[in-house]
Amino acid sequence: MDSLLLQAIKYLKQGEIVAAPTDTVYGLFGDATNDDAIQKIYRVKGRPSYNPLIVHVNGIDMAKTIGQFDNESESIANYFWNIVKKPLTIVLKLTNNNISKYVTSGLKTVALRCPYHKIAIDLISEFNGPLAAPSANTSNKLSPTSYSMVKNDIGHKIPLILDGGECNIGIESTIIDLTRRPYVILRPGGVSNEDIEAFLNTNIVFNTTNNNYNTVIAPGMLKKHYSPNLPLRINATAPHDGEAFIAFGITNNKYDANLSAIGDLYEAAKNLFSTLSKLDNPNKYNGIAIMPIPNTGIGIGINDRIKRASYKQK
Ligand code: TXA
Ligand code: MG
Repeated sequence: MDSLLLQAIKYLKQGEIVAAPTDTVYGLFGDATNDDAIQKIYRVKGRPSYNPLIVHVNGIDMAKTIGQFDNESESIANYFWNIVKKPLTIVLKLTNNNISKYVTSGLKTVALRCPYHKIAIDLISEFNGPLAAPSANTSNKLSPTSYSMVKNDIGHKIPLILDGGECNIGIESTIIDLTRRPYVILRPGGVSNEDIEAFLNTNIVFNTTNNNYNTVIAPGMLKKHYSPNLPLRINATAPHDGEAFIAFGITNNKYDANLSAIGDLYEAAKNLFSTLSKLDNPNKYNGIAIMPIPNTGIGIGINDRIKRASYKQK
């Protein structure tokens, strides 16, 4: 085994927490059954205790020891985790008493995800148990999609970051609640609603009402979230004086970055957080403006992120 991976496992066994890449964003991992480890995660992020964490597993067998599956939820997990390998987090009834109550914030349900990334899977498999992980950033700040983004944000607070280069997908997993009928998308993300509906062959409900922190079915759906330090202006057609300008597709305006010059939403998602991070420089700009992103497919996940990132608290 790789010596850093070995070191990471050692830390996890000691109740320490480590950052590691997944297919979507970097996660901050800890033993899902260890109260101390999980409390460390909340402390390092400055995350409110009522916002539960996703439990990461290396496949359906491990997931079955934690959540209650029926035939349909098993076929959904099998399709998205094993066949198309897209980032879908499923919420099921919790059946395992060993999962720390801090992971689920005391809920009777649990969010389960199998990341499609060698380092993340090796970590879970070698640890040989479920790992809870939120995105590896300070609460409400930009989610990290590279080693250096994690290092610059919380690097001084944790013993180890595994380097897996840039994350392929770039925005977090889509979360679907399978304990409700019809199923409800709690958070749009790296797999599109269309992909999910096509597989299920039925409509799903997109939860739009739940974006208040305290009323919760997906408690992490804050109005303000994913934020750079500079103010962010969305649906911008041209930059104002002093603003950094982020383009999407073809434009006549001068831009500082283009999320995807060919207008590809997957490429845009991959570049989103790293671009915001790069331009988040108050010495150079007085704000960041971003062009409209088509609200289809994975664009719904992108727009969800930038809308929250641009939210101004009153
Ligand atoms: O792609 C991802 O999902 C990344 C990587 C690291 O796996 N993780 C991630 O975690 O985005 P985090 O903590 O930033 O977001 C977790 C979301 C929160 O919005 C939380 O409210 C929701 O999952 N969640 C967790 N458990 C839940 C539950 N039992 N019911 C409803 N929502 C839940
Ligand atoms: Mg997060």
